[in-house]
Amino acid sequence: MAAMGQYRNIVILTGAGISAESGIDTFRSAGGWWENHRVEDVATPEAFARDPRLVQRFYDMRRAAIQEKLPNPAHEALARLDAAWTSKLLIVTQNVDDLHERAGARRLIHMHGEHLKAWCTLCDIRHPWRGPLLDNLPCPVCGGHALRPDVVWFGEMPYRMGEIYAALGKADLFVSIGTSGAVYPAAGFVQNAVELGARTLELNLERSQGSRLFHESRLGPASVIVPQWVDELLA
Ligand code: APR
Repeated sequence: MAAMGQYRNIVILTGAGISAESGIDTFRSAGGWWENHRVEDVATPEAFARDPRLVQRFYDMRRAAIQEKLPNPAHEALARLDAAWTSKLLIVTQNVDDLHERAGARRLIHMHGEHLKAWCTLCDIRHPWRGPLLDNLPCPVCGGHALRPDVVWFGEMPYRMGEIYAALGKADLFVSIGTSGAVYPAAGFVQNAVELGARTLELNLERSQGSRLFHESRLGPASVIVPQWVDELLA
């Protein structure tokens, strides 16, 4: 793959695999279970309506856990690319951890929301949030008791899709990192990119579900293959 001069607009999609070596479990590699619940069963609006305490407990646990973790060389390499790349670049992450921004990435969209925010469903304001939500604390603005994790659940619309599709429409390089390609709409981005003429590259531990749509697949741990790719691009 050639260097800087060949590309002007890059869109990078990341998933749980980029944070795996920071010690954050991926969704599907561990079987997708938590305390005898399928992860999908605690990540839906229906689950929250049925058993809000169970869902809050799950997200409280994950919110606490990510604060103990550190960005790894893959996050750091993307932050380095973001800082050095003078043309357009957008990192779209499905991850709700904050490791991209802690590594220093700036041009970033959290399409599935963020662990470190709470969303008041009464006044519709999102608040920075580090502690548990299980205590049912009041919203700091309206005082109501309707805070939920600001994460996109199955069946809900991911955030900022207009901006993402606009960037994909202009991309000449689309790179997918550490995602299984199992969850739409993110899993469909590669198809969009190919149809619009972009080159497509996959960096993953193993071939993803949409692997055949990529012009090139590089397999290996993100902490190794992402810095290698960034070095090549910036060489
Ligand atoms: N380096 C690179 N890739 C890795 C690594 C690693 N160290 N470890 C695991 N992977 C790969 C796995 O092989 C798998 O293909 O990362 C991918 C992780 O896939 P998933 O667990 O399915 O995570 P993701 O694709 O991000 O899930 C998408 O599903 O549950 C929902 O909303 C949730 O954002 C999430 C979405």
